[in-house]
Amino acid sequence: MEPLQPSEVKGMEKAGQLASRTLDHVEKYVKVGVTTNELNQIVHDFTLSHGAKPAPLGYNGFPKSVCTSVNECICHGVPDDKKLADGDIINIDVTCILDGFHGDTSRMYEVGTVSQDKRDLIEVARTAMEKGIAAVVPLGTTGDIGFAINKFVTKKGYYAVREIGGHGIGKTFHGDPFVPSFGKKGKGDRLRPWTCITVEPMINVTNEPIVEFSIPGSTIKYYETQDKSPSAQWEHTILITDEGYEIMTVS
Ligand code: MF3
Ligand code: CO
Ligand code: CO
Repeated sequence: MEPLQPSEVKGMEKAGQLASRTLDHVEKYVKVGVTTNELNQIVHDFTLSHGAKPAPLGYNGFPKSVCTSVNECICHGVPDDKKLADGDIINIDVTCILDGFHGDTSRMYEVGTVSQDKRDLIEVARTAMEKGIAAVVPLGTTGDIGFAINKFVTKKGYYAVREIGGHGIGKTFHGDPFVPSFGKKGKGDRLRPWTCITVEPMINVTNEPIVEFSIPGSTIKYYETQDKSPSAQWEHTILITDEGYEIMTVS
């Protein structure tokens, strides 16, 4: 991605803030018995009412306005009419387009009473994202980020998903560079000041393969753990500056 002008940085801040506020808003609706289609509608309406568009809707044929990934779903879960159940964990991944700029962020939510194992997974995934963000250094590399994530996750006895990761973001939803959740310090693409990336590690409890599923009418795939063990993910959009970084997706 090309470096952003100061006015474009403002655009990314506004889009990021709206995406984060959307996650704040949807939180109160995440309850036993709600369907992911209902959450989709809430995200859709909130986004439009703030003058933005939901980026997923129609993106490479994706049929919904948000991704909702429940339990063993690793990412890109498609909202449907199934009700959330007590003990479920769900990742809600919101991307809005405001004045042409993308804000992309996701969080984990607990439905009713969740097992300690799942809560631990959520916490490890959150800290993994934070470790990845803390490794963002202008003119450092994507490998620095992946190394930091994987080092932490491995120490905790969990597994970072390798097939999918973060991405460049700005006026386009997904661009260079790929931001892996594993890697070697100093390897990978350089982090250019005044560009944005996402850091969005997906963390599993087991090292079983992941399974890819197609979505009718779309080239986007969704992913599940093969052994149906739970998976967790958090995501922020990050601006690389001359001196360090700033998180765009904050309320
Ligand atoms: N928000 C997802 C990401 O973090 C991408 C979703 S693409 C979609 O990159 F088409 F599935 F919405
Ligand atoms: Co993303
Ligand atoms: Co996302």
